[in-house]
Amino acid sequence: SRTVTRNDDGAAEVGGLDVRALAEEFGTPAYFLDEADFRARCRAWRSAFGQDADVFYAGKAFLSRAVVRWLTEEGLNLDVCSGTELAVALDAGMPAERIALHGNNKSTAEIERAVTAGVGRIVLDSYQEIVRVAAVAQEHGVRQRVQIRVTVGVEAHTHEFIATAHEDQKFGLALADGMAAEAVRRVLRLDSLELVGIHSHIGSQIFDMAGFEVAARRVVSLLADVRDEHGVELPEIDLGGGLGIAYTSEDDPREPQDIAKALNEIVTRECEAADLRVPRLSVEPGRAIVGPTAFTLYEVGTVKPLEGLRTYVSVDGGMSDNIRTALYDAEYTVALVSRTSDAPPMLSRVVGKHCESGDIVVKDAFLPSDLAPGDLVAVPATGAYCRAMASNYNHALRPPVVAVADGDARVIVRRETEDDLLRLDVG
Ligand code: LLP
Repeated sequence: SRTVTRNDDGAAEVGGLDVRALAEEFGTPAYFLDEADFRARCRAWRSAFGQDADVFYAGKAFLSRAVVRWLTEEGLNLDVCSGTELAVALDAGMPAERIALHGNNKSTAEIERAVTAGVGRIVLDSYQEIVRVAAVAQEHGVRQRVQIRVTVGVEAHTHEFIATAHEDQKFGLALADGMAAEAVRRVLRLDSLELVGIHSHIGSQIFDMAGFEVAARRVVSLLADVRDEHGVELPEIDLGGGLGIAYTSEDDPREPQDIAKALNEIVTRECEAADLRVPRLSVEPGRAIVGPTAFTLYEVGTVKPLEGLRTYVSVDGGMSDNIRTALYDAEYTVALVSRTSDAPPMLSRVVGKHCESGDIVVKDAFLPSDLAPGDLVAVPATGAYCRAMASNYNHALRPPVVAVADGDARVIVRRETEDDLLRLDVG
């Protein structure tokens, strides 16, 4: 978060609030989210893309009513990928026409909910779903706007991408084997569906624009084929999300301005070459908006030096509030925030309290060698896919999300209680 500073006696402050006071008031572990930073990032994306494009925040990264209100106020749209995410969005007042429904296996109930709410678009992911959405729309007398999600044969990873003919994964309809073109044919035959565009999402935590370039080129080439075969020019292209953020100092993320410029240039150039009208562009950043805006605050419980190896620092959370290290081998940093220390650094591994050796939050970190139980440590850049992927493993109670703004802190998602968990257990 951009607004973390140190006060006179060495404790960190976020938005002018001392982390020790925050820990006292809200408990640990807890996520603290900087509302001003979140809104600033929304605005940066919005203004970078301008009025001729749409920015859909990817709700899967982190969604709550407060987040939906901020997005609505800042002029962003929202991508949801379940009926429940849709319910949160509608409940918090996001206009349905600004919502897109995603997912590779939407249930009929989810489709019905989306169609009757009047969502702006449904992104179709399979032949069966074309039929399913068309039937629901017809039943409700609606002409539903849809996009078709295609797989362009690009596998993007953090610092590289591979262009392949075929992608062996569950999402979308492949361009390479003609499934995408066939999906277009099928959708265009159905009166209850209005095909507005083509959607592509190539991966996540990407820094290299080259993968997006290949994706844009292949999507535009499909638009040209559609024009040649059907005589229609589809008005929209969505290039998905996936823009990387800095988890460590080695990551060098791009600014929304540069990303918008690069994407607009690619799409414009390719469309000119194919003699197509330039479609309306949209993107779906999740991590790039919410990721950097929050940190997790933990209290140290035990410090265990292993001779010749490293020191294991156990905190009061773990893989239940941040599964990303265990699941993706993700890199995080950590800092002592309740005080300063002049003690020499020690090689540390920050681990949780779960019954599993893979329960690691930060694989390798240097922490001061006088670290002791009761110290508070913070792990930055946990705004995306941490609370959203939190679990109740070992009956852990999922931590709260506290929004910090203007020297004020308020809970936007409360801590789970034992009662919450016991209420589900009806045996
Ligand atoms: N649009 C679509 C269609 C997506 O599938 C995703 C992410 C996004 C947008 C947003 O991507 P972002 O800008 O946040 O990278 N749990 C993983 C990430 C999974 C992303 C799935 N789809 C993680 O923690 O890294």
